[in-house]
Amino acid sequence: MSEALLARRVKDLARQRGALILAHNYQLGEVQDVADFVGDSLELAQKAAQAAADLILFCGVHFMAETAKIVNPDAVVLEPDVRAGCPLADMLPVEDLCRLKKQYPEALVVTYINSSAEVKAQSDYCCTSGNALKVVASLDPQRQIIFVPDASLGEYVSERLGRDLILWQGYCPTHHRITPEDMREARRLHPKAAVVVHPECTSGVRALADEVTSTSGIIRYLAKTDYEEYIIGTENGMLHRLQQQFPEKKLHYVTTLAVCPNMKLNTLEKMLWSLEDTKYEVIVPEETARKARLALERMLQLV
Ligand code: 13P
Repeated sequence: MSEALLARRVKDLARQRGALILAHNYQLGEVQDVADFVGDSLELAQKAAQAAADLILFCGVHFMAETAKIVNPDAVVLEPDVRAGCPLADMLPVEDLCRLKKQYPEALVVTYINSSAEVKAQSDYCCTSGNALKVVASLDPQRQIIFVPDASLGEYVSERLGRDLILWQGYCPTHHRITPEDMREARRLHPKAAVVVHPECTSGVRALADEVTSTSGIIRYLAKTDYEEYIIGTENGMLHRLQQQFPEKKLHYVTTLAVCPNMKLNTLEKMLWSLEDTKYEVIVPEETARKARLALERMLQLV
């Protein structure tokens, strides 16, 4: 079957079932192309919260689908492949966060959305890469802040706001595959290009960039600047949407290694099976969801 026919079947079945298809900016191009909405973690959480549909097919990784279920508990949320996890989220088991909270009992907990529902439930605020600066800046300057689980994003927020944060040493293996050496080579090969990177990159990589921002922030950066060439330092799926939106601009990856194997597990075939069999449904225990929702809603109210 051709990809075009398969894509049409997915779209037709989604329409018949009244399903809303949400996809992250890192999804395979063909998955993005059949989605009703493609965005960064923040935009996807907002869309899920506002969705009128009873059924959401979420193409991203597990913590994103789980977030959609938490902010819209009445909807059935499906993920095409249950194995699409997030190693960064897995780096902070909830028991470790509870220990950290005991160590700093006065501190507020700000948790990056790349975390489990259990960890969110133990947090005061959630944030995404798109609003981490805003969330932390809104908090009482006298209070200590535990920022988990991404140390690179935490360092970036700390540097930008000039504020000490208690960090957890989690990281995104895909973003950490981009090295300063790769960046220097990319700059040498494309000397006229502007360089924009995701805040999950290491400090050495961020220091070599012209702009540091979330995935949808990268889209906005290309929209508001008029360079002919750009070097894009994030997961390489990002280039699909950028190239569609800015066909006149020349875009370069930093390295072909920056591919998230979890994001790429979702395919058109699995989306079709997911809609046919109503699987795999995301379930979050009620009490965990209730507490996690508070942290997410505090974030959503701020933006
Ligand atoms: P964004 O919120 O920038 O889309 O980032 C999502 C993510 O998981 C990056 O690894």
